[in-house]
Amino acid sequence: MALRPNLQPDTHLLNVTDEAGKLDFRTIFGNDHPLELEIGSGKGTFLLAISEAKPQTNFIGIEWAREYALFAADRMRRRSRDNVRVVHGEASWWLRCHVPDNSLQALHIYFPDPWPKTRHHKRRLIQVPFIKDVHRILAPGGKLRLVTDHADYFAHMQAVLKEQTWLDLVEFDSPVPLAAGAPQGSIVGTNFERKYIAEGRTFNAAAAVKPGA
Ligand SMILES: C[S@@+](CC[C@H](N)C(=O)[O-])C[C@H]1O[C@@H](n2cnc3c(N)ncnc32)[C@H](O)[C@@H]1O
Repeated sequence: MALRPNLQPDTHLLNVTDEAGKLDFRTIFGNDHPLELEIGSGKGTFLLAISEAKPQTNFIGIEWAREYALFAADRMRRRSRDNVRVVHGEASWWLRCHVPDNSLQALHIYFPDPWPKTRHHKRRLIQVPFIKDVHRILAPGGKLRLVTDHADYFAHMQAVLKEQTWLDLVEFDSPVPLAAGAPQGSIVGTNFERKYIAEGRTFNAAAAVKPGA
C-alpha cells in the first residue's frame, strides 16, 4: 500500500536498465555539480535536508523498498528538489553496474539493516568486496560515512574498514546542519535516528576518506 495516495514520483525517479552501464550524471542532472549518494534512503528525510543545505551538489538515494523509493521520489518532486534523484534497487549491484570510477564526493549509509543473526551476517551491506567498490567510486578526497545503533554490526564495520588499506579512517563529522528542534543526540537527522533516540539507543559513527585529493 502506498504511504500517500496519488504519488507522482516519475520526474525524480531514476530508472535504468542494467544495459545502460555506467551513467553520465552530468546528463542526468544537466550540470557538472559534485555528486553524493545515500544508500537506504527510506522516506527521503536525509536527502531532503542535505539537498536543501547543499543546492550546488547533486544527490542520489538508493532504496530497496519500492513503496519508500516511490514515496521519497514524490516527496522530492513536491519539494522541488531538482538536485535529487531516487533509485528503487539493490545498492551494491547498482553501484557496481552504474556508478563510474572516481565519481562520488560522499557516500552516506545511515542505520543499515544490521542482520543480527549469525547465519544472516553475509547479508550485511558492509563487506570487503563492497568496500572495494566504494573505493573505486569515491573521488580522491571523497568520504564514506557510516552510522549505526547496532554495536555488533559496528564492530564488523570497523573490522572491514581496518582490513583494507585503500581508505583512511578519519573522524566522523556531521554531514548536514541539523534541523531546529532535532532531538538531543542527533547526528544525521534520519527517521530511524529519531526513532532510536526516543528508544534511548546510542549510536556509533565511522568515516573514511579515499586518499589522493
Ligand atoms: C533501517 S532502515 C534506515 C533508513 C534510513 N537510512 C534512516 O536512517 O531512517 C534501512 C533501509 O535500507 C534499505 N536497504 C536495506 N538494504 C538495502 C540495499 N542493499 N540497497 C538499498 N536499500 C537497502 C531498507 O529497505 C530500509 O529502508
